[in-house]
Amino acid sequence: DKQGLQVAIDGPASAGKSTVAKIVAQRFHYIYCDTGAMYRAITWKVLQAGVALDDEAAVKALLNQITIRFEPGTPVQKVFVDDTEVTLAIRQPDVTNAVSQISAQSAVRAELTERQRQIADAGGIVMDGRDIGSTVLPKAEVKIFLVASVEERAQRRLKDNAAKGINTPLETLKYEIEERDRKDSTRKISPLTQAADAIRLDTTSMSIQEVADRIAEIIQEKESL
Ligand code: CDP
Ligand code: CDP
Repeated sequence: DKQGLQVAIDGPASAGKSTVAKIVAQRFHYIYCDTGAMYRAITWKVLQAGVALDDEAAVKALLNQITIRFEPGTPVQKVFVDDTEVTLAIRQPDVTNAVSQISAQSAVRAELTERQRQIADAGGIVMDGRDIGSTVLPKAEVKIFLVASVEERAQRRLKDNAAKGINTPLETLKYEIEERDRKDSTRKISPLTQAADAIRLDTTSMSIQEVADRIAEIIQEKESL
């Protein structure tokens, strides 16, 4: 018997994927997997090691040497690269601005997709990212595509940053979000795209709770089938 459904949540930067995915996972006692954190973790390692972002062979070798682990934590899940905690480091602007160049590489995508499928194998999982419904878990029973206006997403990121003591101006955040969306949507392999069978939710004027409730409803409908 299956232990639960696979729930894929995709969408552009700062649409609210991870916040909502966490709430939904808790509600259903599902595992939560933040695939963006995995792309950020390898990017952090590349920067740490001083490897050039475009040296694909070296990036691949580095990824094959490291483990990326999650541990429960409040308010956020802890992320480890081998024995080093990188929870905060992977959210810093240097990683944010380099990650799209690393996540576009075929060897990186192949390896992380494989690791993500292993994590999802047990069922009962909420996984968020860019290509979960389209590529990583094409058979996911629930696929959500979260969107919100760039203005709203930049405002959300501004608030988030303020809490972390990062003071990037709104206009810069807007530009960075648009740039990352552009790179993520136009790359050759598994670009950010809405799967044909995904449900699109525009969260521009929705609260976190409203979005989580709506997704919970969709999961319950599927569970009762
Ligand atoms: O949270 P935020 O929207 O800033 O992004 P994230 O989910 O942490 O993802 C960071 C980056 O990882 C994205 O901009 C993508 O380049 C990459 N990513 C990806 O390519 N595929 C995924 N499934 C998840 C993230
Ligand atoms: O994972 P992703 O980059 O898609 O977004 P996030 O990090 O979950 O959300 C970015 C910020 O938007 C967080 O501070 C959330 O609390 C906030 N948010 C919101 O204000 N309203 C929503 N409906 C969803 C998220």
